[in-house]
Amino acid sequence: MTMPAPDFGPTTTDEPLLSLRGVTKSFGAVEVLREVNLDVRLGKVTALVGDNGAGKSTLIKGVAGIHTFDGGDYRYEGESVHITSPKQANALGIEVVYQDLALCDNLDIVENMFLGREITSAGLLDDATMEKRANETLAGLSVRTVKSVRQKVASLSGGQRQTVAIARSVLWNSKLVILDEPTAALGVAQTEQVLKLVRRLADNGLAVILISHNMNDVLQVADDIAVLYLGRMATQVDAKKVTHAQVVELITTGRLSTDPPPAAVAVAEEESTNSAVTNDQEDQS
Ligand SMILES: Nc1ncnc2c1ncn2[C@@H]1O[C@H](COP(=O)(O)OP(=O)(O)OP(=O)(O)O)[C@@H](O)[C@H]1O
Ligand SMILES: [Mg+2]
Repeated sequence: MTMPAPDFGPTTTDEPLLSLRGVTKSFGAVEVLREVNLDVRLGKVTALVGDNGAGKSTLIKGVAGIHTFDGGDYRYEGESVHITSPKQANALGIEVVYQDLALCDNLDIVENMFLGREITSAGLLDDATMEKRANETLAGLSVRTVKSVRQKVASLSGGQRQTVAIARSVLWNSKLVILDEPTAALGVAQTEQVLKLVRRLADNGLAVILISHNMNDVLQVADDIAVLYLGRMATQVDAKKVTHAQVVELITTGRLSTDPPPAAVAVAEEESTNSAVTNDQEDQS
């Protein structure tokens, strides 16, 4: 008999900034998200992990308004919201840094950071203000590797580009920053830099969702780990309470063969009496 993986409980009891309950999404006949729950808190890095095709990108696209969920409850700052466009998500302070980054090589850092949302004064671009804000934002994130914000993005390293993309996402009174594989293309030192930046975002009070296939990154920087398995949330655990091997097992099987730690069992039992989630383990492929 297969049991749903236990819920180890969130790391804090604070009201989550974002709370998804039972969200679903299908593309035609393919059910990609099935009754997914997720809690994301201010000041925390929530890692979203799962195998290729598990539904991670679909889930964050739903949060960011690129897709609309078919069903379930999307709660933000304690209120039920219905997000149907990226603009609407941006207005709530939700920003996504996509893997391909979408930076323009031929523009400099300031131009990239304000692309599409330029600051104007009397109908003209207010370059001085934008440059000042770009510098302040980078300084606020303790970014010291960028020599000048007037450098063209083409001249930046992969890590510096990622840094610019992340800095751009925090320019807009963001509350939730979602990062899809920010270290995928980076070397060791640059990965380290970007992870420090991810940690700093959370330490500055933002909520961060980090999608990653790299368990070392996840265990280094995450407070919570949410594991998607075949479109279902296998579990959301306190990162301190799981081992590398356990996370890998959750990703590959959706459950744990070993006993979770005692603290986790209590939450899991309480949860299982509260929810009567259907548990069809049928494969989607
Ligand atoms: N627009 C779409 N139309 C049809 N099917 C889709 C669409 N987008 C995603 N899917 C399907 O949904 C499933 C989940 O895809 P998704 O991209 O969310 O996975 P993922 O967890 O982000 O994977 P990866 O780690 O490879 O990025 C896959 O089976 C995919 O083929
Ligand atoms: Mg993806």
